[in-house]
Amino acid sequence: MEKQQKIVQMFNEIAPTYDLANRVLSLGIDVSWRKFACRYMLEKFRAQSINIVDVACGTGDMMGIWKSMAREFGVHIDELVGVDPSSGMLDAARLKFPDFKFIEAYADNTTLGDEFAQILSISYGIRNVVERKAALREFNRVLKPGGYVVVLEFTKRSKKGLITSIRDFYLSKILPRIGGVISKNKEAYEYLPSSIENFLDAKTFCDELYEAGFEVEVCRGFSMDISTLFIAKKVR
Ligand SMILES: C[S@@+](CC[C@H](N)C(=O)[O-])C[C@H]1O[C@@H](n2cnc3c(N)ncnc32)[C@H](O)[C@@H]1O
Repeated sequence: MEKQQKIVQMFNEIAPTYDLANRVLSLGIDVSWRKFACRYMLEKFRAQSINIVDVACGTGDMMGIWKSMAREFGVHIDELVGVDPSSGMLDAARLKFPDFKFIEAYADNTTLGDEFAQILSISYGIRNVVERKAALREFNRVLKPGGYVVVLEFTKRSKKGLITSIRDFYLSKILPRIGGVISKNKEAYEYLPSSIENFLDAKTFCDELYEAGFEVEVCRGFSMDISTLFIAKKVR
């Protein structure tokens, strides 16, 4: 099995326990990072009608937040579409959000039309995309001119320090044990630290966004830089 298929297969296996493991392992803090990103974007589109795509939507948490926060900003969401290649994750998403639209597809071939959306989000997903550069070009194609890509991700550290060591210890020693008990799949939770290690640091990812036709507007770390938010505008 090729690398990308193995990753998707792993998400199929952990899908039934994904939400529980996620909440326990992040102590719910990820919700505040997600809300920050949505608030920032919805303010820009206040009182407008827009389409939003959430790539690597998993069990649909980011979509739920887009939907519930939009009203606060007077934003009307015409279409909210989740894209993910894992049928297991999409089954879990459909149970939670039976009215949402989902497409089983990879990030580099979403099957959506040109200039479909004003916002495309991808939370904790881009690290898993083997064809990342092709996916960033695909995001550019799917966005309208002036549209935004919103990425939440665990990035690789460029500097070593105490905080980095604590984070690395948590990710490599504690997280696989707890995730392994909840999902009964320790291997899947050992994949998380190695996938971060194999991903990029924040600066290098900003360069890739630029190459794909985006201008980075936000690149900020949350909670001692555990998670990083990138917001970038389609400029060409
Ligand atoms: C860590 S989960 C994140 C799910 C969700 N976005 C969230 O924030 O909870 C990563 C997701 O990426 C998806 N994924 C893996 N490879 C992908 C690819 N090439 N294209 C799109 N999604 C992919 C997996 O199926 C999984 O649902």
